[in-house]
Amino acid sequence: MDYYGEYAERIEALKERLEEKIDALALGLDEPGGERGVEHILGRVKSAESAAEKLKRKGYPEGVTSALTNLSDIIGIRCVTHFVGDVYKLVKLIEDDEELKVCEVKDYIASPKKNGYRSLHMIVEVPFDDEQISSVRVELQFRTIAMDCWAALEHEMRYKKDVSSTELIGNELKRCADEMASIDLSMQTIRDMIRGEF
Ligand code: GTP
Ligand code: MG
Repeated sequence: MDYYGEYAERIEALKERLEEKIDALALGLDEPGGERGVEHILGRVKSAESAAEKLKRKGYPEGVTSALTNLSDIIGIRCVTHFVGDVYKLVKLIEDDEELKVCEVKDYIASPKKNGYRSLHMIVEVPFDDEQISSVRVELQFRTIAMDCWAALEHEMRYKKDVSSTELIGNELKRCADEMASIDLSMQTIRDMIRGEF
């Protein structure tokens, strides 16, 4: 926690406020009957080690001011939805929001990464209450439960792969990601049929 020094509390508070804000925006997705579009929202503040490592890797100066101005994922918020369609509805709600300024969108759902990773990433700029730093960029990740499940397992295994079987494991993981995407589409179709939107 020392790494963020005088900024630690404000960063934590901003993370919590954004979690609440996105949760509130997501109410716009919900069915009048009570069905929630969002399964969970989870924010995190980048660890000191990983912030310092990233600054170094990208050739930026060391220190918290540099991290807050140069990195766009000191605060990261992951929003997990039930259905793929809800990701895009939520993205639209964020784009229409007055406070959040969208800087960048990477749609790894429309164009998955080579390993099969799917999510929609967005960098938004938000005001930051500081004399030196007027705003910070925050990384938002939107994905379905199925995409989140795959990413969690892939992340878990990434550090445990046996080098000699990397290609085989990579192919299998990719196949699982594609199967889960296909299930996501089927689930979306079933939901749309239930709601009479089909
Ligand atoms: P950095 O990789 O952070 O330097 O930035 P970038 O611009 O390349 O961002 P990228 O779009 O690759 O996404 C960064 C974040 O997305 C990561 O910190 C992970 O949370 C998530 N992510 C990206 N790719 C993968 C992946 O292949 N597997 C898993 N499990 N998560 C991923
Ligand atoms: Mg990356």
